[in-house]
Amino acid sequence: MEEKHPLQRQQFGPGFHWGVSTAAFQIEGAVDVDGKGPSIWDTFTAKKGTVRNNDHAGMACDFYNRYEDDIALLRQLHIPDFRFSLSWSRILPNGQGNVNQKGIDYYNRVIDHLLECGISPWATLYHWDLPQALQDKGGWTNRDSISWFADYAALCAKHFGDRIPNWMVMNEPSVFTGAGYFLGIHAPGKRGLASYLKSIHHVTMATAAGGRILRSDTDSQIGTTFSFTHIEPHTQRSKDMAACARVDTLLNRTFIEPILGMGYPDADLAVLRKMRRYMQPDDEQQMAFNFDFIGAQCYTREIVRSRWLTPYIGAALVPAAKRSTETTDMGWEVHPPSMYHTLKRLHTYKNINKIIITENGAAFPDDIVNRQVYDGRRRDYLKAHLREVLRAKLEGVNVHGYFVWTLTDNFEWAEGYHPRFGLVHVDFETQQRTIKQSGYWYRDFLSDL
Ligand code: NOJ
Repeated sequence: MEEKHPLQRQQFGPGFHWGVSTAAFQIEGAVDVDGKGPSIWDTFTAKKGTVRNNDHAGMACDFYNRYEDDIALLRQLHIPDFRFSLSWSRILPNGQGNVNQKGIDYYNRVIDHLLECGISPWATLYHWDLPQALQDKGGWTNRDSISWFADYAALCAKHFGDRIPNWMVMNEPSVFTGAGYFLGIHAPGKRGLASYLKSIHHVTMATAAGGRILRSDTDSQIGTTFSFTHIEPHTQRSKDMAACARVDTLLNRTFIEPILGMGYPDADLAVLRKMRRYMQPDDEQQMAFNFDFIGAQCYTREIVRSRWLTPYIGAALVPAAKRSTETTDMGWEVHPPSMYHTLKRLHTYKNINKIIITENGAAFPDDIVNRQVYDGRRRDYLKAHLREVLRAKLEGVNVHGYFVWTLTDNFEWAEGYHPRFGLVHVDFETQQRTIKQSGYWYRDFLSDL
């Protein structure tokens, strides 16, 4: 059926960035070759019972060896911008000290090849794979992590800074601190309030420190990414509304507000006042940094109700599965207006220079018939979310780019290979790639200039 108002690339304006996002651990494989040291995710995935189906990322998408083929796919799909992350322990096997030249050479090859193909590289310094050697010293709970990270950032700026026009310092700090240092369901599998609060504070300090280093050592645009989930109360009763505000504070404000110079939002979430234990006098100033862009990663909405039994937050999520709504293979609600609400809300902060949607996408099962991959639901999800980006943009929100998560199906952390997010299908037995219907849709959308 012909759409009444077709969505077109031109509607977003000529300077809008269009890409796909990836992360080193989820695609590279080659976890122990050419001098790479282990990361916390190598350790975590080696333990039985941590990842669905005991999947591990030893091979993942074998991007380490197949990057030329995957970059050829980017060209074929007319995707102009490629976001990837650098693996800290591939570059510094112990997290600090000895530099692994083969790791530097590998990223140089990837970056140079992207540039030769006319694709703009967007690099993330930290997408969750902390060197195990640093975790052995406490990882992000150790205040020294701020200087370990600063040294790593300086090294990356020195080796790659001349060819990376856009950097991102951290990826979704709320997720890796919450899942990794409070709930223990992601690497390094730590639990408890003290380890959580310490890691929040040190990651926030490291984000600003990394930003300052990239700003002084490169001429690039410097950003960092946050996950944002639009939150609504289960009912309009005051206790649900209050619970909703607390969860919103934790998930959507705790990480960005200190960076924007507003401090931790501890007036709205009492447990955050305990953060003061881990702060030094100058930290409030040090954790602010004026990023050129904020990367927003939006996937879904959450509904929250009051639940006093839940420690510290007194709230619980109402699972999407119990709400008779469409969900993805992650169990996340499909709710495109959340994208719009998130953008409008970010627009209310005074000091965000610009916003880039650095991730949006969906895990759905693919239908494979005669070697064609049908994934109309993923295509529809992407279109519906893009419409919401456009709606916000037309209302004046300074959003300047959109990246699909992700190019190829890959290793989805604790969920292993089960959820498939790619525009390109991967047969993990043979590593064969097949462009999905959604990939062809993105190509056609991007080609219509
Ligand atoms: C957020 C993370 O940055 C990425 O690593 C993950 O695979 C996607 N969202 C989907 O869950």
